[in-house]
Amino acid sequence: MNVDLSVELVPARAGQAGLWLKNPVLAASGTFGYGVEFAAQVDLNRLGGLVVKGLSAAPLDGAPAPRLCETPAGMLNAVGLQNIGVRRFIAEKLPALRGYDTAVIANVFGHTVEEYVEVIRALEQAEGVAAYELNISCPNVKQGGVEFGREPQLTREVVRAARGAARRRPLIVKLSPNVTDITVLARAAAEAGADALSVVNTFTGMAVDLRTRRSRLGLTTGGLSGPAIKPLALRMVWEVARAVSLPVIGIGGIATGEDAAEFLVVGARAVQVGTANFIQPFAPVRIIEELEMYCRSNKIATVRELCGTFISE
Ligand SMILES: Cc1cc2nc3c(=O)[nH]c(=O)nc-3n(C[C@H](O)[C@H](O)[C@H](O)COP(=O)(O)O)c2cc1C
Repeated sequence: MNVDLSVELVPARAGQAGLWLKNPVLAASGTFGYGVEFAAQVDLNRLGGLVVKGLSAAPLDGAPAPRLCETPAGMLNAVGLQNIGVRRFIAEKLPALRGYDTAVIANVFGHTVEEYVEVIRALEQAEGVAAYELNISCPNVKQGGVEFGREPQLTREVVRAARGAARRRPLIVKLSPNVTDITVLARAAAEAGADALSVVNTFTGMAVDLRTRRSRLGLTTGGLSGPAIKPLALRMVWEVARAVSLPVIGIGGIATGEDAAEFLVVGARAVQVGTANFIQPFAPVRIIEELEMYCRSNKIATVRELCGTFISE
């Protein structure tokens, strides 16, 4: 039995391309470099897509070391959004990425609304990008460091401005889980023109070195990811999928095909794999194969049949 794994995440509309994926498994931003670094170990053509490391207008050096710290069933990171900047990405990474048959999604961030717009405008001139994913978990320097993704009004403002700049391609907004009610932020992003939502980014956490009584990270806090966050992320995907009609990409601790299937059942249309790439660079390919196997053994002909089939009593 053949299983159709393809998903249409965002339909095309006048003047804007749609987002079709050959399968619903993508590599998550910040865990897969700019994609090309993984090409020797992973057949990128197998991936539903890959989301590149967050891009800012100017290159950034990132946070002081140490940047990573292992935790039970997960890890903390405080990379500080180190990246080569959008212009170098277009000149040095995109040409090679164009050679692969997979959806390349540009993760975008800024410290001001204007910076988000600048990054998207630069990408709009380039070929080989399938969509934009807006990382709204950054502190807004103009608003005294309040994260864009924690305040519905700021979320609306940055998504509306990004929407205005993103004319050619779908705009995905990646939500922060560090909020009281994620559905409020999901609705704000939807109202402001998002085409899809990625749920979720990392959970803010800490680890203390008892010898020095200092943080185990160069910054005091970091983002928790990996299997430890899977139940939390699953719950948030379920909440968001019920609250808005936009397609949802589920992210958080996915390490197996059955993990991916769980996210699809609670309402995700696609998933991203992050921390698992550090254990096994080809984890997304294995997860695609396992998801296909799960479908085949359960007589599911198209993966879309799984989406949103959760039965809540
Ligand atoms: C080292 C590291 C760097 C990350 N960098 C980014 C980033 O630049 N932009 C972004 O939106 N998310 C970033 N993330 C968040 C991941 O894309 C993902 O949302 C999160 O890790 C949860 O998924 P996981 O449990 O499968 O890792 C990063 C995560 C890690 C571990």
